[in-house]
Amino acid sequence: MDLYLNDKTAVVTGASQGIGRAIVKQLAMEGVKVLATARNADLLEDLKQEIEREGGISPVILKQDLVHGNAAAVIAQTALEALSRVDILINNAGKSNPLGIIASDADWRRSMQLDFDRVRQLTEELLPHFLQNRQGAILNLCSGYELRNINASAVAKAAVVSWSKALACEVGPSGIRVNCLQPGLIDTENIRPYFTADERRRFAEREIPLGDFGSPEDMAAMAVFLVSPRAKYITGAVSAVDGGMQRYPF
Ligand SMILES: NC(=O)c1ccc[n+]([C@@H]2O[C@H](COP(=O)([O-])OP(=O)(O)OC[C@H]3O[C@@H](n4cnc5c(N)ncnc54)[C@H](OP(=O)(O)O)[C@@H]3O)[C@@H](O)[C@H]2O)c1
Repeated sequence: MDLYLNDKTAVVTGASQGIGRAIVKQLAMEGVKVLATARNADLLEDLKQEIEREGGISPVILKQDLVHGNAAAVIAQTALEALSRVDILINNAGKSNPLGIIASDADWRRSMQLDFDRVRQLTEELLPHFLQNRQGAILNLCSGYELRNINASAVAKAAVVSWSKALACEVGPSGIRVNCLQPGLIDTENIRPYFTADERRRFAEREIPLGDFGSPEDMAAMAVFLVSPRAKYITGAVSAVDGGMQRYPF
């Protein structure tokens, strides 16, 4: 199926590894020129070379820590200069942050900053451009929000969902779509520290109808579809890619 993505342009955060890396790769193979950003410049360079070897469109890479105060402005400005036009924004960067029932403001602020503030700020930096062009596809990675343990990242991502749904209503009439993509348990560095191989197998057998954690490529397939013109009637949605798990019952 042609996703009509050829010659489109995209900004993807958290592009050095895991889900973001898989998304950049699949977009590049679909003919999208991507600005791929994260902190680890070596991994970004390695991704660029991998894409070039496999015949995809070579991405522009940008080393940037999203926690820095002006990160959103820097990324948006660099993208507009390097790509001339931005059609797609994928806010993917984030970090699981399990906390106790009583935690410091600093711990909470870290997640609210990375997982909500920067998502909103980078979107707001690019919104005038999208509004001017009367088109744009925004995809925000979110999370499960019915966890049994407190995780500041999941709380911040619940804010992302609420904000995304309202934003989708506000900007839909201007031709801009805003969606959320909700991973179940996807095998990346973000969650590996929390499961031994044995725990992963037992958890998957018990809780995931499809029997195992997902892969970054499983997420990327849905992400690439949702930002493509093929998904032109999908906005304000939260799409789960979770092997049927839906909730986090642990
Ligand atoms: N994997 C799952 O099961 C799961 C579940 C729920 C939600 N999610 C969400 O899905 C998204 C992708 O997660 P993942 O599993 O692919 O995680 P991952 O493998 O840990 O990758 C996270 C990405 O975010 C980037 N990042 C983290 N902190 C950053 C910072 N301060 N500045 C710039 N970039 C930063 C990392 O790049 P650098 O280290 O190079 O900066 C990396 O490229 C995240 O938003 C995560 O919360 C994942």
